[in-house]
Amino acid sequence: MGAIVSRRGFLATTGAACASVLTSRTALALPAAQQVEIQTDAEIGTIRPEMHGHFAEHLGSCIYGGIWVGKDSRIPNIDGYRKQAVEDLRRLGLVVLRWPGGCFADDYHWRDGIGPRQKRPRRVNIHWGNYTEDNSFGTHEFVNFCRLIGADPYLAGNVGSGTPDELRDWVEYCNYPSGSTLSDERAANGSPEPLRVRYWGVGNENWGCGGQMTPQEYATHYRRFAGYIREFGGARPFLVACGPSGNNADWTRGFFQSMGGRRRMPDGFAMHFYSGGKSNATKYTVETLQEQLSSFARLESGILEQRKLMDEFDPQKRIGLMIDEWGVWDRMVPEEEKRYGRLWQQITMRSAVAAAMGLNVFHRQADKLVMGNIAQTVNVLHAVLLTDQERCIRTSTFYAFELLKPHRGNTALRAKSADESPLGLSVSASRQKDALAITLVNPKHDAAMAVECALTKGTAASARARIIHHADFNACNTFEAPDVIVPKDHPVTAQGSKIRIELPPMAVATVLAQLGSA
Ligand code: AHR
Repeated sequence: MGAIVSRRGFLATTGAACASVLTSRTALALPAAQQVEIQTDAEIGTIRPEMHGHFAEHLGSCIYGGIWVGKDSRIPNIDGYRKQAVEDLRRLGLVVLRWPGGCFADDYHWRDGIGPRQKRPRRVNIHWGNYTEDNSFGTHEFVNFCRLIGADPYLAGNVGSGTPDELRDWVEYCNYPSGSTLSDERAANGSPEPLRVRYWGVGNENWGCGGQMTPQEYATHYRRFAGYIREFGGARPFLVACGPSGNNADWTRGFFQSMGGRRRMPDGFAMHFYSGGKSNATKYTVETLQEQLSSFARLESGILEQRKLMDEFDPQKRIGLMIDEWGVWDRMVPEEEKRYGRLWQQITMRSAVAAAMGLNVFHRQADKLVMGNIAQTVNVLHAVLLTDQERCIRTSTFYAFELLKPHRGNTALRAKSADESPLGLSVSASRQKDALAITLVNPKHDAAMAVECALTKGTAASARARIIHHADFNACNTFEAPDVIVPKDHPVTAQGSKIRIELPPMAVATVLAQLGSA
């Protein structure tokens, strides 16, 4: 973070910074400052770092060619993992990573991915293009990758085409310390220490690719599968049940009614939210842009309504609501999918604004959510990294996540914006003692915003800000020009209880302020 500006105010900032602001002011007349009230002592809840989690599936070039290139690759690697990806994801701090799907999870048999690689069976990935999957990336490769990048592994079990004993055995294989045949097999495969996997998904999208079940059918399956999962070696499994597609109340009500208040309720209930786009990633129009960005208001109302529904069955809120797949899903370009794999899409300034709006929603609903996993980490959908042979670039969404990182582990604060319409200024605020973080997103393509944040209690002794912005919402980092959208220092003033900042159109900015006394 840079551009520390003292109480003396914005006018005292450096010439370069002022020049850019003056240019944008001349080009785009700024209306009166938008008021945001930051309620410094109105706490919502902890922003669990897991809300900034990720998802990686055997789909397109997310795993093969993206994360995993193999030890013999000419692409620089660490034990087969793309070195650049390891370094970038470690820098981002992935927190938690969900694998192996997605739809792939309900057609995946974990035993296919253990033992000597040359002996692993070759299967057909029926969900994502019928390509031959050689299973060279399996449980150990995944968990070791998580260790390398500092993420907690989250395994999604197979309910659709699997059996309760298959999932039960996977848990034992991973977590039982030693002495059983399965734990000895794990040791022989290179991991004498238990893998201590905490997060276990009991199926994925079982209303769709995970078995086309009704909520009642799924609840029956859930109870059978969950009933055989045990805590081993102190690693209490956190079981995740399949939640609805978007805000589907029938699924949620049907599932919990059929659970009948039985003892082994899930620990997490995972809803999926995709913001479908009507354009190719780099060909958005004002209309399709606005339509997509407006959908994040539905994400927020969906969280509120789903939590309310869950409360009817779980008034003590023991079950955590999660969004373990979310992000933008644009119209694919067939030539790009052919070249880079299924569901490959470019990531633009619009995508970064969407990512930041999503994370802002999570922060504002911090008391209702326990995890969020953007789909997906590399080369698929709303990716933070894109690769092409040796090249690996950080997308604008990578930088959006980086800008919002200071909120992790903080206490979310209520922040009231004067314009809370779907395309109004998006805000989230949080604090850790005297350190205040505010993320402001301007989703407007044609209007700059002057923003005045008023702290309800206390003063801001100093503030600094970083921003990503591009006037063209279709702009993106490419393999040829990887630094089109990168974070920059941005002027901000802190004066008494007021923090002032100007946001160009299509911008994501995080202000870090130090609180002083009132
Ligand atoms: O993320 C791509 C796919 O979207 C996943 O496999 C599935 O769970 C969802 O429909």
